Amino acid sequence: MTALAVGDSVVVEPYIVCNECGPCLSGHYNLCTKLGFIGLAGGGGGLSEKIVVDARWVHPVGDIPLDEAALIEPLAVAYHAVGRSGLKAGDVAVVGGAGPIGLLTAAVLKGIGITTIVTELSAARKDKAVSSGVADHVLDPSSDDVKARVLELTDGAGADGAFECAGVNAVLDTMLDVVRPAGVVVNVSIWGHPATVDMQKVVLKEIDLRGTIAYCGDHAAAIKLVQEGKVDLKPFITGRIALADLVDKGFDTLINHNDTAVKIIVHPS
Ligand SMILES: NC(=O)c1ccc[n+]([C@@H]2O[C@H](COP(=O)([O-])OP(=O)(O)OC[C@H]3O[C@@H](n4cnc5c(N)ncnc54)[C@H](O)[C@@H]3O)[C@@H](O)[C@H]2O)c1
Repeated sequence: MTALAVGDSVVVEPYIVCNECGPCLSGHYNLCTKLGFIGLAGGGGGLSEKIVVDARWVHPVGDIPLDEAALIEPLAVAYHAVGRSGLKAGDVAVVGGAGPIGLLTAAVLKGIGITTIVTELSAARKDKAVSSGVADHVLDPSSDDVKARVLELTDGAGADGAFECAGVNAVLDTMLDVVRPAGVVVNVSIWGHPATVDMQKVVLKEIDLRGTIAYCGDHAAAIKLVQEGKVDLKPFITGRIALADLVDKGFDTLINHNDTAVKIIVHPS
């Protein structure tokens, strides 16, 4: 970590890791066998007035406004997911689901020069994928034949990679359908139930189906994408509320009207 001065703006990788297991010792700390996140597994959290963390978890954000910096954490999730795909500039990717994670995954893909095709059912989120500029094409599986449209858009080849960001089995199935032979499917979703995988699709196209969890050494690069103007986080801040409104305008919106929001920023003062 570079030297910091009082008043600098920073973000924190909110990890609790053991530093002793095989993954920790080999540098894959996101795979720590005792992995926890500050706030979910102890150690205070975002609702604490002050928090102490090891210097290794602190990343300066320079001039990025703090409300945008609050989105660096999910952006780092997206950056790691894209890294897992091995995709490069000039490739074509499909992102299944345009919630916060799908939108930010598309943002990273666009930011590094990859053409993005986003699939989504919700009108509000389809609009956001277009208005934020992260989707080159938006497809709606309730009205589009997604596989046929992706083939059309890729001159019959199929996409180089696809990202499951919905946690919906039909989306996972579609991601396997839309990638080209030897393509890569990254499963970003954290499933609340076991998913089924049509292994014949994996076998016959030699698809690489990969997992991704959180981030590991991704923050600096994610921050740089924002600083260089390759990712604009502003469109993903869909609300700014006071702490006193956290339940009514924060949790209630996210539980009951999820598609109307991407990220809601809570101001403590
Ligand atoms: N791997 C990681 O490190 C990591 C980190 C954070 C979140 N996640 C996971 O990523 C997933 C996405 O998170 P989120 O906050 O964006 O979720 P979300 O529920 O807000 O978004 C999912 C989107 O998928 C859309 N969708 C549903 N069915 C669809 C269909 N048939 N076709 C196209 N789109 C469809 C929904 O309309 C919604 O907009 C979750 O499972 C979450 O737990 C993973």
